Amino acid sequence: MTEKIRAEKTRAGVTGWPVAHSRSPLVHGHWLKKHGIDGSYEKIAVAPEDAVAFYGNFAASGLKGCNVTIPHKETAAAACDVLDEAAEKMGAANTLWLDEGGRLCGANTDGIGFLGNLDQMAPAWDDRHDCAIVLGAGGAARAIVWALCSRKFTSVHIFNRTFEKASEIADQFGLSVYAHSWDKLGTFLGKADLLVNTTSLGMTGKAPLDLDLADLPKEALVTDIVYVPLTTDLLKQAAERGNRTVDGMGMLLHQAVPGFEKWFGVRPEVDEELRRLVLDDLEQTS
Ligand code: ATR
Repeated sequence: MTEKIRAEKTRAGVTGWPVAHSRSPLVHGHWLKKHGIDGSYEKIAVAPEDAVAFYGNFAASGLKGCNVTIPHKETAAAACDVLDEAAEKMGAANTLWLDEGGRLCGANTDGIGFLGNLDQMAPAWDDRHDCAIVLGAGGAARAIVWALCSRKFTSVHIFNRTFEKASEIADQFGLSVYAHSWDKLGTFLGKADLLVNTTSLGMTGKAPLDLDLADLPKEALVTDIVYVPLTTDLLKQAAERGNRTVDGMGMLLHQAVPGFEKWFGVRPEVDEELRRLVLDDLEQTS
C-alpha cells in the first residue's frame, strides 16, 4: 500500500540552468503544506546540451509538470504539443504539464502574474487604460505588453536602450504598440496612466534607474518588476509625489498559481503569509 501511494505521488519542479537560486520551491512547498498535498516540488538542473531531449521526452522525467526558467523557455515551448495564447505569442513557455492524453501542454504565465499582482494590490487599476509606458524590451517586457493588450490598453509605448528590441515587440503586437528610443521618454510621461519598469535598472548591484517623474500625472500607477530591493528608488520616488505604486513581488507569486493548479488540482492563494515567507527568505539570502 505504501509503495502504491509513493508511486502515485505527484511530482513537479523547476527546470533550468542554473536553478539553485530559484524561489519557486519555497512558494510551491508552502502551498503543498498548506493544502496537505502529498506531492513534491523539486529543483531539476537541465544542462543546455540536454534540454532538447529532456523537454522532447518529458514523460520520461516522471514529472506531472514543471516550471521552466532561463535559458530553456523557448526550447520547452518548441517541445509542447499544445500552447496557450501567451506562450504561442511569445514562443516561450514557463509552465508545462502533461494532460490526460499524455500531451505536453505549455503556458506562459508571466503576463498573468503581472495582471494578478496589479488586480490584487491596486483594484480597478486598469479603469484608466489609454496609455501605458513600458521600460525595457526583454522577455518580461514582452509578457507585460501581451498582458496590457489583453486588458485593451489603447496604446502601449515601449522605451528601450536598444531600439531594435523594442521595435521587434511592437511589430509583433500590432497597431496599438509603439517602440521608442529611451531619449523620447520625456515627451510621453505626461500622458501615462501606467508606468512599468521591466529593466534590471534599480536592482541591487545594478545601475540606478535615473528618471525624472515631474511630468507624470499623479493618477498614474507605477510598478516595477524588480523586487530586490522590494521598494525600488522608482517606487519610492513615485510614492513620495503621490502616485499609487505596486512592487514586483506579487508578479513572482501570481505567475506560480496556474502551474500549481494544473499539477496538484487546487488553486492556491497569494496571501500575506506567502509574501512574508518569500520576503524573509530574500532578506536572509541577499
Ligand atoms: P528579461 O528577459 O528578464 O526581461 P533581459 O532580456 O536581460 O531580461 O532584459 C533586460 C532589459 O533591461 C533590457 O530591456 C535591457 O536593455 P537592452 O535591450 O538595451 O539590453 C535593459 N537594461 C539592462 N541594463 C541596462 C542599462 N544599463 N541601461 C538601460 N537598459 C538596460
